[in-house]
Amino acid sequence: MTDKLEIRMPDDWHLHLRDGAMLNAIAPISAAHFARAIIMPNLVPPVVTSDDAHQYYQRIQAALPRGSTFQPLMTLYLTEESDPDDITAAAQSGLVKAVKLYPAGATTNSQSGVRDFDKVRGVFERMAEIGLPLCIHGEIADNTTDIFDREAIFIDKVLEPIRSSNPQLRIVLEHVTTSNGIEYVKSVESGLAATLTTHHLVINRNHILAGGIRPHYYCLPIAKRESHRLALRAAATSGDKRFFLGTDSAPHVDTAKETACGCAGCFTALNTMSILAHVFEEERALDKLASFTSLNGPHFYQLQPNSSHMFMVKQNQPVEFPPCIQTSEGTLTVFDPGFPLFWQAEPMQN
Ligand code: DOR
Ligand code: ZN
Repeated sequence: MTDKLEIRMPDDWHLHLRDGAMLNAIAPISAAHFARAIIMPNLVPPVVTSDDAHQYYQRIQAALPRGSTFQPLMTLYLTEESDPDDITAAAQSGLVKAVKLYPAGATTNSQSGVRDFDKVRGVFERMAEIGLPLCIHGEIADNTTDIFDREAIFIDKVLEPIRSSNPQLRIVLEHVTTSNGIEYVKSVESGLAATLTTHHLVINRNHILAGGIRPHYYCLPIAKRESHRLALRAAATSGDKRFFLGTDSAPHVDTAKETACGCAGCFTALNTMSILAHVFEEERALDKLASFTSLNGPHFYQLQPNSSHMFMVKQNQPVEFPPCIQTSEGTLTVFDPGFPLFWQAEPMQN
């Protein structure tokens, strides 16, 4: 039995670090497990301009432990007023690695996102020209569309038209949750990839709704039925270069989750690597773990894999993770996978 694995230091290709006290509480957690992360721009107000991104970058750096080498890879929040020249400058300075498209109303702090996709055509053209990837929250933001169908319909109605009018634009379909999404990404040879979260590999919609409402499993896109979860696991553990980890670790304090209208998001940064090792072992795919966490992402983003390594060590006893973290904004519940975790991440500096 394999009980110690050495893998390249992982990266998180979709992470919410927030701001202020929450940023200070959680940035060190991601920095302990990941070398780099694509940082989501859905702050209030959002990170729209290169100047916003530069200032947010400085705040993240200030929240990291002294001597940390963690690299925040910044993104810009696409609005209908985004300026192609500003985006180009941000990309060419090396600060910004992607632009994020939120359909307006699709998720947390997406109100400033895009309603009319024709209005961002010029931005897409420029991004294709300069080779800057577009990260997409792939859900139709229409309250008349069933929440469980929003991803599949987005792919047909929005993603396919964007791709066919911008064949050179490199796109990440983020936090894919359906077999439709997996099949769509697999049908495209290059220029399209998908991130998968840790929690969608572990939960289906029963976890949220059967036997009582469990708000800490509520996230967007919402977890789907079991057959979709199995398709996500097959893709994640396949080694296919088009699929890689984006945790979408999205902290909200408990008072914002355990309420009549709770926020979407699972906080997984703390135990993600342990959960993933468990999932990959169950799928007899531990040899593919590094492809998913450490190699396929840099391949898509045209970056080098990290030179540092991490050990995943299997313990005889379950590893104890705190069920919650105290922050000065309130208590933050850590994602509970619902099974004991035996794998422990041991980062190793080279
Ligand atoms: O569950 C989610 N939480 N999905 C998102 O798309 C946004 C995120 C957040 O920012 O809380
Ligand atoms: Zn997200």
